[in-house]
Amino acid sequence: MRRLEGRVAYVLGGGSDGPVRAGESLPMGNGRAIALRLAEEGATVVVGDLHLDRAQATVEHLATPGLAVQVDAADPGSCRDAVAAVLAHAGRLDVVVCNVGISGREPLKVQSLDDWALADAVNVRSHWLTAQAALEPMLEQGRGSFVFVGSTAGVYSSRRSLSYEATKAAQLGVMRHVAVRYAARGIRANAVVLGNIDSALVRREFGDAGAEARGSVVPMARQGRPEEAAGAVAFLVSDDAGYVTGQSLLVDGGVSAAWPTPSAIS
Ligand SMILES: NC(=O)c1ccc[n+]([C@@H]2O[C@H](COP(=O)([O-])OP(=O)(O)OC[C@H]3O[C@@H](n4cnc5c(N)ncnc54)[C@H](O)[C@@H]3O)[C@@H](O)[C@H]2O)c1
Repeated sequence: MRRLEGRVAYVLGGGSDGPVRAGESLPMGNGRAIALRLAEEGATVVVGDLHLDRAQATVEHLATPGLAVQVDAADPGSCRDAVAAVLAHAGRLDVVVCNVGISGREPLKVQSLDDWALADAVNVRSHWLTAQAALEPMLEQGRGSFVFVGSTAGVYSSRRSLSYEATKAAQLGVMRHVAVRYAARGIRANAVVLGNIDSALVRREFGDAGAEARGSVVPMARQGRPEEAAGAVAFLVSDDAGYVTGQSLLVDGGVSAAWPTPSAIS
């Protein structure tokens, strides 16, 4: 499908690093898979990442000519500069995917101010700053679409990280504000709320060993793939979702639909 022909997309956090899947050489994360999919659909894609080499690795694999920009999501000026770079490069901006996100390991008992501040800066502040910088040109065009890459940890507690859970919940608030405030002016904003995805991030953090166990708690009995997250994003930014805004699309293999039971009933 080429639903994004002629559109310009910016993916914040579009690089990836970590262990690769069997038989592959490119570490696959959600941001990278999203950038690749948007280009496959015909969009010109700009990839922003803290590590320019990771952004460049994504751009090298895009189906359309793209651009890599260095951006530190924790730095407000850098977030704004990156959007300016997209506009200078492409002259317009139709789609913004705020994918960047970091997770800590601090429950309430040990939650530190530093971890909280960094999680807020990267997981929430960078998203609204990026949306703010992109808003004006979108309003002038009378069209624009945002997707925020969320987590089920923003809806259900994973017990693991207070700052991650709280910032991923706040991110959905940002999404709803953008959606409702600017809906009448041609702007749409939605979120994909991801469950267990077999990404380079998860492999890096938890190793391959627990893959089966992570999949076993999912009704679909497997982890999701970054490409499946990307498919949901491509739908939401496309005109196929033209009347969809302010929504959180759960991409979790059925986890959120399930009542916890000790064993699956067949
Ligand atoms: N993998 C999962 O199972 C899962 C589950 C739920 C939600 N998510 C969400 O997916 C998103 C990330 O997924 P991913 O697979 O692309 O992760 P990833 O680790 O591959 O990260 C993508 C890129 O973000 C970049 N990055 C990190 N800090 C940055 C900063 N300060 N500024 C700019 N770039 C920075 C990294 O360099 C990396 O290349 C997050 O929003 C996360 O909450 C993932």
